Amino acid sequence: MANVAGLDAFKQIHDTIKKATGKKLKVGIIGTGWIAESHADGYLKMDDVEIVALADLIPGKAKAFAEKFGLKNARIYESDLALLENEKDLDGVSICTYNCQHAPCAIHALDAGINVMLEKPFTVTLDEAIEVMRAEKRSGKILTIGFQPRMSENMQMIKKIVQSGELGKVYYIQAGGGRRRGIPTPFGTSFIEKETGGIGAVGDIGTYSLDMLLGAVGYPKPLTVSGYTSSFFGKDPGYYDGHPEYAEKFGVDDFAAAFVRLEGDIILDFRISWAMHMNTSGDALILGTKGGLRIPSTDCWNGEFDTPLTIYKTVCNEEVEYKVPMKPSQDVFFKKLRSFVDAIQNGDKPAVPSSEIVINQAIIDGIVRSAALGKEISIEIPEV
Ligand SMILES: NC(=O)c1ccc[n+]([C@@H]2O[C@H](COP(=O)([O-])OP(=O)(O)OC[C@H]3O[C@@H](n4cnc5c(N)ncnc54)[C@H](O)[C@@H]3O)[C@@H](O)[C@H]2O)c1
Repeated sequence: MANVAGLDAFKQIHDTIKKATGKKLKVGIIGTGWIAESHADGYLKMDDVEIVALADLIPGKAKAFAEKFGLKNARIYESDLALLENEKDLDGVSICTYNCQHAPCAIHALDAGINVMLEKPFTVTLDEAIEVMRAEKRSGKILTIGFQPRMSENMQMIKKIVQSGELGKVYYIQAGGGRRRGIPTPFGTSFIEKETGGIGAVGDIGTYSLDMLLGAVGYPKPLTVSGYTSSFFGKDPGYYDGHPEYAEKFGVDDFAAAFVRLEGDIILDFRISWAMHMNTSGDALILGTKGGLRIPSTDCWNGEFDTPLTIYKTVCNEEVEYKVPMKPSQDVFFKKLRSFVDAIQNGDKPAVPSSEIVINQAIIDGIVRSAALGKEISIEIPEV
């Protein structure tokens, strides 16, 4: 304990000196594809942060990225390992690689003693998530997952309503939303190939939907899951305008559904899609003994819905409904990065901790494994 207190004191002094000297926080970006652009945008808006290094496996890609964002002084590397080996003075790194490279890159960065902002989904499998958390533990560094919807006050209101007791004891949560025609291939195939994406809709937008609902009810652990996944659209060459070859590459799910039993006697009824012959799988619902909450159908990723939340109650035996006023659109991508930087500077707990998202990952992993086996399975989350 004495050592921990000593380290804390040292860290406080170090942070105070850093702030007083006006020294900028040095960050790197690993993986300079589509989502990395929002990370560069965010960091460039901060006076106290400097992007000093970029890495991408594809030759020339990180350099082109540096040119696009005017990062003249950023050093360029062709892998996460090369960057980590040469950049000994980094305060943080954004890991923006495709899903299958989340775990190795996060473990490498944490083991190099660098704070990590890891894009979603946390990982592909639960085992990988546990390995990343072990690296987090041995490094003592910050690990946060890139769930920008969490930064939206509208999304936060869902949790506030449930935690206030307004709905009583929650016993059933139902996911909704999903896309009618939205397999993400605008910038290539890294989302749809097994070797890069690893998992499809269930991990891509499913992870947000799970976070919205599980976060509201306090992230109870999953006990059992009966899952289903399919890929009827992704494997159909006719789906892709001008790119029938994508069907051959498609190795993940484009639809998933599941029935999950959670601790605390709560049922999660889950569905998500990248593609289906339906405009939406519906609104998300939270049912409690004193009230119900309807969350209008949403893809969740930007933290928004089109119409207000509705609360349903019975008052003096009358059915009553009321709307929750919506806040204006929030700059969630910026806030996501700012919360990471603030956590580094102030030693705060990260806004999206791995201890919660591992539960989200355990459900995704359970859905995939149960679907492959064609039967219900139990879920065990290993100790970190
Ligand atoms: N938060 C969001 O709203 C959001 C939106 C889109 C994507 N994402 C997530 O971001 C991740 C990346 O998505 P994308 O669309 O940018 O993919 P992308 O394919 O455009 O970019 C990923 C890049 O990472 C590089 N890369 C992979 N392994 C690497 C390594 N070890 N070292 C260096 N570079 C490496 C690839 O070469 C590629 O250029 C995915 O996990 C995705 O789920 C999040």
